[in-house]
Amino acid sequence: MSFDREALVEAARAAADMAHAPYSQFRVGAALLFADGAVVTGANVENASYGLSLCAETVAVAKAMSEGRRGGLVAVAVSGPDAAEISPCGRCRQVLTELAGLDGSDPLVLGAGTGGAREWHLSDLLPDAFGPDAIATKP
Ligand code: THU
Repeated sequence: MSFDREALVEAARAAADMAHAPYSQFRVGAALLFADGAVVTGANVENASYGLSLCAETVAVAKAMSEGRRGGLVAVAVSGPDAAEISPCGRCRQVLTELAGLDGSDPLVLGAGTGGAREWHLSDLLPDAFGPDAIATKP
């Protein structure tokens, strides 16, 4: 499915404005594009107990899944505050892979900085991912 990369990155940028990042000051936004055209966004939500902080991508996936989405993920844009393009953290790669794996999709991931964006397939960011096939209880 072709889509407007600029628009998706812009949605991620706008989401970053909603970040709660008083500890790192590193405001991140994420935008998930689904096959039906819906865009679900998220921003990082930090906590005074630093380790409990949630990344933008994880927040976006939790929003989407708690609204009932179980696949159809076409692309993910992530926007960071720096000039350098951002690359999703390892935990977020796993969280995104759970959603994508539900219908076997391999979404594009756009990692945007203030200049441009890098682009990967999710499977390239997390090859040989741990998934439901490894455990007894499958979705
Ligand atoms: N962060 C994200 O939201 N997404 C990433 O992919 C990398 C890091 C957040 C976590 C923390 O709130 C801040 O950026 C600094 O690490």
